[in-house]
This record gives sequence, structure tokens and C-alpha cells, in this order.
Amino acid sequence: MTQETGGGTEPGTEDWSGVHRGPLRPGEWVRLIDSKGRKHNFCLEAGKRFFSNKGHLEHDELLGREEGFTVKSSGGGEYLVFRPLLSEFVISMPRGAAVVYPKDSAQIIAMADVFPGAHVVEAGVGSGALTCSLLRAVGPTGRVSSFERREEFADVARRNVIQFFGGDHPAWSLRVGDLAEELPRSGERADRIILDMLAPWECLEAAADALRPGGIVCAYVATTTQLSRFVETVRLHGGFTEPAAWESLVRDWHVEGLAVRPGHAMIGHTAFLVTARRMAPGERTLLKKRRPAPGAYGPDYQGPRPPGVPVEDPES
Ligand SMILES: C[S@@+](CC[C@H](N)C(=O)[O-])C[C@H]1O[C@@H](n2cnc3c(N)ncnc32)[C@H](O)[C@@H]1O
Repeated sequence: MTQETGGGTEPGTEDWSGVHRGPLRPGEWVRLIDSKGRKHNFCLEAGKRFFSNKGHLEHDELLGREEGFTVKSSGGGEYLVFRPLLSEFVISMPRGAAVVYPKDSAQIIAMADVFPGAHVVEAGVGSGALTCSLLRAVGPTGRVSSFERREEFADVARRNVIQFFGGDHPAWSLRVGDLAEELPRSGERADRIILDMLAPWECLEAAADALRPGGIVCAYVATTTQLSRFVETVRLHGGFTEPAAWESLVRDWHVEGLAVRPGHAMIGHTAFLVTARRMAPGERTLLKKRRPAPGAYGPDYQGPRPPGVPVEDPES
């Protein structure tokens, strides 16, 4: 249901997009950007002051106005005022654990094919950054079941998700515990399972049991050793298609008159992504026709060994 305001049609919390329209209200976050591009994010409270290196501003000067305006602080600093977008909120919100960056959340939503109405299981919830994107993608008719083994991170995530959506999202549940133990106990079935944790291979069996045929498991891992171990564990399991592995690199561009060039700064590395699809019960995927590259599974290789791949003889 929607409500009309002076500024247009305002989504009520029942839309659960996390987008608010109309005049700025107490309890909402705003993002101030100065002329050098420095960002300041804070929660609006009647009677409070925001301080910067250019004096202060009264929150009351912002409250009740439509976002998208400029204000001046007591020391002459000028600021643009907007509500933060989801991609801005997640990198400025309080953190327990490291968050999934927006460029990777976008990849996860697209490549793990997260759709309105989907039932998604995710672990660990960390600070709740990916949770916000998942909830927005599945919408109020879907379900996001999050698992987190550390109570203190679960608390941070709960606060962030409630802050972003303006209340308890009806599609969200959060359980404290290890996914490998709690997911089988919950009896949940899922269309998509997203693993963002140190050792996702430890949760593969539980994920495989909970995934519907055709469902997708997606892991987000920071290092090549984790990437290798997860991919080989998926192959060894046999109940998934050949895993796809990739990373995404995003480069800003400076565009000014004839000076059009890549920006100097870039996020060099965040993490690698892996996806694979669940086969139907009892079905195995096709074995690769190509032989592994020479030495790929040689005597130095210590990880899980795909079916049918013998240890190579170093002398041959
Ligand atoms: C990098 S953080 C997740 C960040 C989160 N995706 C975000 O965007 O804010 C990894 C989290 O996984 C949790 N974790 C690790 N192994 C887990 C497991 N087996 N079950 C549940 N949570 C786990 C850790 O406690 C940690 O909070």
C-alpha cells in the first residue's frame, strides 16, 4: 500500500524497499557531502548538532525538508544533503565483521539469480550488508534466512537491517549458530544459498541437503587457497554442476574536458565468487571431458581430489 505526500508517492514500510521519500524525519540517516567530496553520515535527531571542521549545523535545519539541498555550517562549510543509497549505507553503517562490497553484492544478486519471492539462506550475516541487498531483491513475498555463529555480530546486523528498512523486515529471520548444524536442524529448503565465511566447504553438505534441484550455491571467499578448496570440495561432492569462479574489478573514470582517463585509485581486491547449481537427488553432473592441466593435481597438490583424477607420478 502507498501513501501520498507532498513530494509524490511514498512507500510505506509495507513496501520494504528501504527507500524513504518525502520530508526528512527524525531517526533517518542523512549523508552530507562537502565540496571536496568528504562524506559524513549521521542519524537525524531533533535538537541535536552535527559538528565538522567547519563549525556545526543544527539537525532541525534539515528535518522537514525534501532531500537534495545544500546547507551552510556555522563556519561557512557547504554540504549537499541526501538520504544514503543502499550502496552508501552499507559502507558507512556500523560494522562487526567485514562487509560484502556493493560491487560484489550486485554480482551475487545477478549471478546467483536472486529473484522476487525466492527463499535465500545466507551465512554468516556479519554486519548485515549483503542481507540488505538480498532482502531488497527477494521483496516481502520472499524469504531470507540468515545464520550467524557470533551473537555480537548478529546484534550489529539486526540493528543495521532494521535501520535500513525502517523496521523488522517480514521476509527476514536470523538465527545464531553454525550453519552446518543449524540449517539441517531448521529443516528449511532454499532456492539459493550464499556462503560468506572463512571455511565455506565445511557447510557444503548442509547446503546441498537444503538446496532445491536447480538451486544455486554461491561462495564469497577472500583468498586463492579458500577458492581452490571450495571449488574442489564442490567437485568432489558430485551433486553440483561444474563450479564457475570469477572476481569483479571496478575502475572509476575521471571525465573532464580532454582529460578523460581511469581514476588513480581503485579497490584492488575484495573477494572471489563461486557458483554451482544443485543436481536433482541421486543425479551426478557430467564428468569433464578434458584432462586436468599437467601438474594441476601433481604430488604437491594436497586438497580434495575430484573423482577419477589419480595422483600423478612425478617420474612420468
Ligand atoms: C565476512 S563476515 C560476513 C559479512 C556479511 N556477509 C556482510 O555483508 O556484512 C563472515 C561472518 O561469518 C560468520 N561465520 C563464519 N563461519 C560461520 C558458520 N559456519 N555459520 C555461521 N556463521 C559463520 C562469522 O562469524 C562472520 O560474522
